[in-house]
Amino acid sequence: MSTIQPHGGCLVNRMVQGTERERLLAQAKQLFELKINSWTLSDLDLIGVGAFSPLTGFMNKDDYESVVKRMRLADGTVWSIPITLPVDKDAAAQLSVGKQVALVGEVDNVVYAILDVQSIYETDPKREAVKVFKTDDAAHPGVQKLLSRPSTYVGGSIQVLNRPKPEKFEQFYYDPSETRRIFSEKGWRTVVGFQTRNPVHRAHEYIQKSALEIVDGLFLNPLVGETKTDDISADVRMRSYLVLLENYYPKDRVFLGVFPAAMRYAGPREAIFHAMVRKNYGCTHFIVGRDHAGVGDYYGTYEAQEIFSNFTAEELGIAPLFFEHSFYCTKCGNMASSKTCPHDKAEHMHLSGTKVRALLRDSQCPPPEFTRPEVAEILIAGMRDS
Ligand code: ADX
Repeated sequence: MSTIQPHGGCLVNRMVQGTERERLLAQAKQLFELKINSWTLSDLDLIGVGAFSPLTGFMNKDDYESVVKRMRLADGTVWSIPITLPVDKDAAAQLSVGKQVALVGEVDNVVYAILDVQSIYETDPKREAVKVFKTDDAAHPGVQKLLSRPSTYVGGSIQVLNRPKPEKFEQFYYDPSETRRIFSEKGWRTVVGFQTRNPVHRAHEYIQKSALEIVDGLFLNPLVGETKTDDISADVRMRSYLVLLENYYPKDRVFLGVFPAAMRYAGPREAIFHAMVRKNYGCTHFIVGRDHAGVGDYYGTYEAQEIFSNFTAEELGIAPLFFEHSFYCTKCGNMASSKTCPHDKAEHMHLSGTKVRALLRDSQCPPPEFTRPEVAEILIAGMRDS
């Protein structure tokens, strides 16, 4: 097995199988049905398989308050993002502490889990926004999401009875127990995890390969859950990774698996969360580059790196690898970063997201120093189909 401890000491498993599952499914028919959306369903599934270890359910009030205030669970374990289950007033009136409730998909009516209701509590979403996102500006996509949800939360542990079926790329879905086994079978003692919600450009490739120089394996772990509408679709992003892997990565050193979580855009706090989760998947190291999980100008370029200094190496249990802004430098004739390149900015190839999108929309490839041509082709085709 993988040598790294899951966060909190052991990998949570809330999946129920066999006759016990049958029994609980029958029991669920007698319970109040709480409808859950796809965001909550993805959280539920990730809790169930232990990706969110040590969480065993949706946060109770004490953990929620502690996470919002000090980035720790009530017992002191590092945790930076509230994982909560909001309920509207009508549904809340049907729930009581000590009872069970069935969590049912709002679209497909599938019973996904049974929740033991341990707390029902009122929150102040603006306060949560300011603490977690550092802003209550409704233009921030994470804040917008938060403010659109009910402010009553229900907490309690879950037993998972069914799992959402991936629409695409099913072969790239691995649970933490599986990635841990796979890394161990590959003989990788050190593995660096890479989070991304964007198609892969040369800067990403550069920091991934720089990190790989000092560890045994690279776990490419693109987030494929809910993202804001103007982010490139997970489908196109996955295809961009597949073509890059085919052409430019050593097969025995790189492993691709998706991260089916929703994107929060919480910048620094999300970087900590992303690192803890990748530790659960078996990574010993985690890449944090410029403006990790950021959006707009809400966070400083390196704030998502600086936040790690609030915690000791033991508490984190996974080593963050920090990368400065990376680019192709025409004078160096290489990929470089602000840390390694002495040349003037004019020598640095930098294209804004808006510029790249405009090129792709015109079926033009960005320069190969910015995007590999094979990737550009996929992005152009993706633009055409969207
Ligand atoms: S993120 O929202 O998932 O962080 P993205 O997919 O763009 O967005 O970034 C993935 C990782 O690569 C993050 O750690 C980010 O900080 C890093 N990164 C992206 N572009 C650069 C760059 N040009 N230089 C250094 N790091 C970068």
